Amino acid sequence: MADIIDGKLAAGSVIDTVTKAAKTLAQETGLRPGLAVVIVGDDPASHSYVNSKSKMAEQCGFNSVQHSLPETTTQEELERLVATLNADPAVHGILVQLPLPRHLKSEPVIQSIVPEKDVDGLSVVNAGKLATGDLASGLISCTPAGALILINKIHGTDLSGLNAVVIGRSNLFGKPMALLLLSANATVTMAHSRSKDLAGICRGADILVAAVGRPHMVKREWVKPGATVIDVGINRVPAPEKGEGKTKITGDVAFEECAQVAGAITPVPGGVGPMTIAMLMANTVVAAHRALGRPTPTF
Ligand code: GUN
Repeated sequence: MADIIDGKLAAGSVIDTVTKAAKTLAQETGLRPGLAVVIVGDDPASHSYVNSKSKMAEQCGFNSVQHSLPETTTQEELERLVATLNADPAVHGILVQLPLPRHLKSEPVIQSIVPEKDVDGLSVVNAGKLATGDLASGLISCTPAGALILINKIHGTDLSGLNAVVIGRSNLFGKPMALLLLSANATVTMAHSRSKDLAGICRGADILVAAVGRPHMVKREWVKPGATVIDVGINRVPAPEKGEGKTKITGDVAFEECAQVAGAITPVPGGVGPMTIAMLMANTVVAAHRALGRPTPTF
């Protein structure tokens, strides 16, 4: 039976460091880290994520501002809000929750956030720094940064000689995850929905990271005995056992069967999820320290 990786515990330790750094910053400068979260439309899941982010920012002692815009918001209105937040010295981090409603183009909005405040690490400057191996001066996408901390707990920070497979190739997760693993010396394969023999590719992985958005797609036969399995999926599925019409969150990995062969595995919920929010706080406190010309805390 695999070790269950406790994401809540690891996230708690990141949050402790963030909270202490924010407190020291406030004592020494009189300024609190500021996080602005922008959400457009009425998607209940997105609202729930955003509320958790805003609540955690408050808990860390940040100045937390949430902008909830109606579904009818135009591209110009959204970009105008981002421009205002870019210019606001009390705001050190800006997050525009994705996906945006269909009538809005996300890429111009994301790229209009100044890189110094881009706590999602999605701007071409931050993505480029990661791609060129500069892990120190930019901001790195929260979920892969959090997943790497969990991987480091199992394997240490040097992944030399290990095969890592990332399933998924999004800008928000798959690409930055693969680049982080590569920077840590792993031999990295990026697999995706068009890959041939996905199961065979995954069976070669010492570190298998799944971010596909399909409940329980990764099966026991896909997992190399002793491998570390990181499940990034957040899928809402029916849960009739909880009552009629009830749902629950589940991952991309068939947890019970994969835990029989893996060496270590993250659960869903309670694995990567809490790390995403913790790393958003970490990025914001880092951005605030940089804006104030102070040495940054490390995570
Ligand atoms: N939607 C789901 N995850 C994320 C995230 O990490 N950042 C943003 N901006 N939107 C998301």
